[in-house]
Amino acid sequence: MKTRITELFGIKHPIIQGGMHFVGLAELAAAVSNAGGLGIITALTQRTPDDLSREIEKARKLTDKPIGVNLTFLPVVNAPDYPGYVKAIIDGGVKAVETAGNNPGKWVDMLKAADVKVIHKCTTIRHSLKAQALGVDALSVDGFECGGHPGEDDIPNFILLARAEEELKVPFVASGGMADGRSLVAALALGAEGMNMGTRFIATKEAPVHENVKQAILAASETDTRLVMRPLRNTERVLRNAAVDRLLEKEKALGANIKFEDIAAEVAGVYPRIMQNGEMDAGAWSCGMVAGLINDIPTCQELIDRIMVQANDLINKRLAGFANS
Ligand SMILES: Cc1cc2nc3c(=O)[nH]c(=O)nc-3n(C[C@H](O)[C@H](O)[C@H](O)COP(=O)(O)O)c2cc1C
Repeated sequence: MKTRITELFGIKHPIIQGGMHFVGLAELAAAVSNAGGLGIITALTQRTPDDLSREIEKARKLTDKPIGVNLTFLPVVNAPDYPGYVKAIIDGGVKAVETAGNNPGKWVDMLKAADVKVIHKCTTIRHSLKAQALGVDALSVDGFECGGHPGEDDIPNFILLARAEEELKVPFVASGGMADGRSLVAALALGAEGMNMGTRFIATKEAPVHENVKQAILAASETDTRLVMRPLRNTERVLRNAAVDRLLEKEKALGANIKFEDIAAEVAGVYPRIMQNGEMDAGAWSCGMVAGLINDIPTCQELIDRIMVQANDLINKRLAGFANS
């Protein structure tokens, strides 16, 4: 399937694996890229730019296909060493970067000067237009369904993607709630030229996370996620567990007075305990409503192959049948 997204990134299928903290490591990124999608290493999971350089090298040994790196701009006072990470990306010969979070403006020119294609992930048309004006090559339009940070405007993808088609000139992929060939065809119908998946890629054989995490996604339904940190305007969609229930109780009790310190125990530094040790109640971890559509743990190759078969069947048989009837 050829779209502006496959052309932009030099990939076979219009499927991207979104950056995921403590999930987007070399093994997963390489597996997605080997299967014809765009695999993405998450920069901030690497403690230093040197660690990121090593992770890029590791992925390169596992695949000769294009890979990308996610750079998430966090709303924190003591910013990570972003110039160092950008240098590691450029020096490592990576040609695709997924930016997310705060305004990527400062880094877009630097990346583009090094011939790196930038896809910015955001959750509103307002931010998409701003990123387009900054010169990004593509957008990842992330609906309210998504795992991770859906923003504060709560626009689901049926509306958001159609609005993106009305407003944007650069190509965009649909992100949030995407799981299979049906998702891809729906996304294409709404104007996207591909899709980005997070949660679905965690439940794959190559995802380098504890088996408990994969089983938790399989066990979850579409009603099992919760939104946390809304009072802090840093909303995150997470899988419900004991820590999330405790966090929500605190939000209820403290109301508008809540501070990050009040909930730090439930959110700060919990990812390694969950993703690596499989302590499923250690804290809040991002998970999309799409968990309700995930029932197995295929390889990335099996997953992507069957998505493309289903998408092609839908377009050429079911939809063509309707159109010609
Ligand atoms: C466990 C997990 C961790 C994530 N970490 C990040 C991250 O560090 N940076 C980022 O830009 N997005 C992050 N995301 C968001 C994904 O890249 C992607 O946009 C999102 O999962 C799409 O929604 P879906 O889960 O419904 O597919 C994360 C998502 C999950 C599920």
